[in-house]
This record gives sequence, C-alpha cells and structure tokens, in this order.
Amino acid sequence: MGEPQPRDLLNLATGVAHEAGELIVRLRRTTTIEVAATKSSPTDIVTESDRASESLIRDRLHDARPADGFLGEEGGGTPGDSGVVWVVDPIDGTVNYLYGIPSYAVSIAARVDGEVAVGVVHNPVSGETWSGIRGEGAWLDGDPIQANRQVDLSRALIATGFHYDPDLRARQAAAMATLLPRVRDIRRVGAASLDLCAVGTGRVDAFAEQGLKPWDLAAGGLIAREAGATVSGLRGAEAGEQFVLAAGEGLFESLHELLVESGFGI
Ligand code: IPD
Ligand code: CA
Ligand code: CA
Repeated sequence: MGEPQPRDLLNLATGVAHEAGELIVRLRRTTTIEVAATKSSPTDIVTESDRASESLIRDRLHDARPADGFLGEEGGGTPGDSGVVWVVDPIDGTVNYLYGIPSYAVSIAARVDGEVAVGVVHNPVSGETWSGIRGEGAWLDGDPIQANRQVDLSRALIATGFHYDPDLRARQAAAMATLLPRVRDIRRVGAASLDLCAVGTGRVDAFAEQGLKPWDLAAGGLIAREAGATVSGLRGAEAGEQFVLAAGEGLFESLHELLVESGFGI
C-alpha cells in the first residue's frame, strides 16, 4: 500500500466522522436514547448510539484500509500490520448526548508508527470540524487556528473535567477551592475532545484534566498542539491518563504551578 499520506488519512477520517455524526444525530431524533450500560462507575455510561457509531467507523475504515489497526472506546483494539492505528471515540460527551446538550463529538485520530499523525473532531450539531496534521497545522472548517498566547493566570478561562471515580472527584472539588479564586473562571463542557479544540481555537485559554483515555486525547491533543498550545502531563511527563494540561505560551508554566499547588493535578 506504500507510506500512508497524512492528507489521505485526514480526508478519510473526516468523511467517516461526518457520516458517524449524521448517524448519531439521526438516532437522537428518531429513537429514545437510554443508558445501555455503565462502565467504570454508574456515571460512566454507554448508549446504543455509541456502539452504532463505533461500528460504522470501524467498518468504513476497515473497508478503506483493511491492514490498519483500530482502537475504539467501546469495542477495544484490533491489531494491524500497516503501521497505522486508528484511535476512535465514537461519541465524546455521551452524557451531553443523553441529555440533548449540543456539545458532543466524533473523534478520530490516526497514529502512524506510534505517533498521532492526523486527527479530526466533529461536532455534528454545530457542524464544526476541527482537524490537524502533525507538523503542518490545525484548522477549523479549513481555516487555520491559533491558541491564545500570553494570557495572565488571573485572566485565564480554563476548561476542565472531573473524573468518574467519586473519591477522585472529592479531591478535585477540594482543589477547586484553591484554583477558582486565582483564575478568570472554569468551564466544564463535558467533552474532552471539544475542550482541547477550544484551546486550539482560543475559545478557552487552557484545559486540564486527569484520567483521559487515548481516544479522548488523541485527535484533540494533536489539534491543540498544532494550534500552538503546549500539551503535556505534569512535571515534564507526557500527556496521558495521569494528567493532561493544554495551554498557550505564557500561561502553561503558571497554571502548571497552580495545579500542582492546589492538588488538582497529582
Ligand atoms: C468523557 C468526556 C468528559 C471527560 C471524561 C471522558 P465520554 O468522554 O470527554 O468530558 O471528563 O473524562 O471520559 O465518556 O463522554 O466519551
Ligand atoms: Ca470520551
Ligand atoms: Ca465516548
């Protein structure tokens, strides 16, 4: 098949994300959305639409590129031998989807030889599509995007999310008492991929969350980084399940310090 071209992977992912987006919006209009199962905690839910979206995405990608690997939130992983692995969140923001809050997304990334090379995050309600190619940039509906720069901590608007684990939530709530008086405000939108894209678009100044899975982070993390934000863990660690902090130049360091001091980041 030859070396995969990032632009081809991105075009494929974009088409599939749009198709999956249409499917979940149609299902919301035509069926009753119910909790089909719970996962790590009673608040960590899955609906039939999550499953339908993931199987559509898996089928389309497999039809187009049968040798690729696949890692999806609902169905787990399938190895491949092309060097490309798709990392997919079929609905990011399922609680919003359940309630009809229009902030949910289909998130599709391609790792090439272990590194995220392209990513797409599509909100099917707003119709917005963010995309990124490693080393080439990030875009919203085709227009280049840029994270905010040189924002003072006291004026920073910070997106975050709380862990599904109740004990961790209690600790995060306590940390908020230190954090909240020192920043402009906090936003808890409920879809990590959209939060990361919001950093990339300058709709918030930063994003911080513990406990993200690869499918929450892969596409949005690339997009935020390509838009100029620093995306990493704490104390020099890589971004991952332990912690993700995404912030533009001039804010990252001071926010990092505050997160550690408050105990929000472990
Ligand atoms: C969740 C959302 C939420 C974040 C959680 C994720 P899901 O994804 O992104 O904002 O706080 O950590 O698990 O379960 O809706 O795909
Ligand atoms: Ca998710
Ligand atoms: Ca999900």
